[in-house]
Amino acid sequence: MPDALRDDVYRRPLATALQRLGIGPGWRCVDVGAGGGDVSVALAEIVGRDGRVYAVDSDPRARDEAAAAAAAFSQVLAITQAAEDLVLPELVDLAFCRFLLMHVIDPATVLARMATVLRPGGFLVAQEPITSAGRVGGAPLSMPDARHPDVGALLPSLVDGAGVEIVDAWAEAPAGVGPGPVTDYLASLTGVDPGDDPVVLPPLVTVVGRRR
Ligand SMILES: C[S@@+](CC[C@H](N)C(=O)[O-])C[C@H]1O[C@@H](n2cnc3c(N)ncnc32)[C@H](O)[C@@H]1O
Repeated sequence: MPDALRDDVYRRPLATALQRLGIGPGWRCVDVGAGGGDVSVALAEIVGRDGRVYAVDSDPRARDEAAAAAAAFSQVLAITQAAEDLVLPELVDLAFCRFLLMHVIDPATVLARMATVLRPGGFLVAQEPITSAGRVGGAPLSMPDARHPDVGALLPSLVDGAGVEIVDAWAEAPAGVGPGPVTDYLASLTGVDPGDDPVVLPPLVTVVGRRR
């Protein structure tokens, strides 16, 4: 699935989360499970050349894609590393993941690891779906190839369990009918063409935590 399409339909939850943090120039960030690097590039635009974005992914192909997407941003460093083994050369202001925990073996282990790279007062932001709460023509969606397709429903307690203080949490779901990015995204995700049926994509749960 093209990352740009995911970025397009889920751009609002990302924008809302970043606004709530007050992220700005000079911030140090890590985008864990960065994939094609859409979020890393969005972060790089905000933090500027005085900031730093570590784009971390266990798949070396993702590192190459993220590095290519961020070629114009010297502040982005693409790294091949498993989230479970996350180690950075410095503590960061923001540890971020989106559509990652649904794929890992143990989401709690990954969140705990992300918390270890935060400076005191630094933010942990996780954005994960509740896939089965998506609807096509009123019927639930499923995504059998993901390990934890509904991990978003557990996200507040998972972030709490990582030892950070939850400062905000909410869910947002893109919706639409007929041709457009929501329909295109559904087709790329499931192979389903909804025709004229209304589509509500899986709600993305965002949890913002802060290291005490
Ligand atoms: C669905 S993509 C999400 C990409 C990006 N975060 C986004 O929202 O567009 C999931 C990414 O997580 C990576 N991934 C899966 N398991 C991982 C792990 N244990 N450690 C690091 N990355 C992992 C995959 O290689 C893939 O690039």
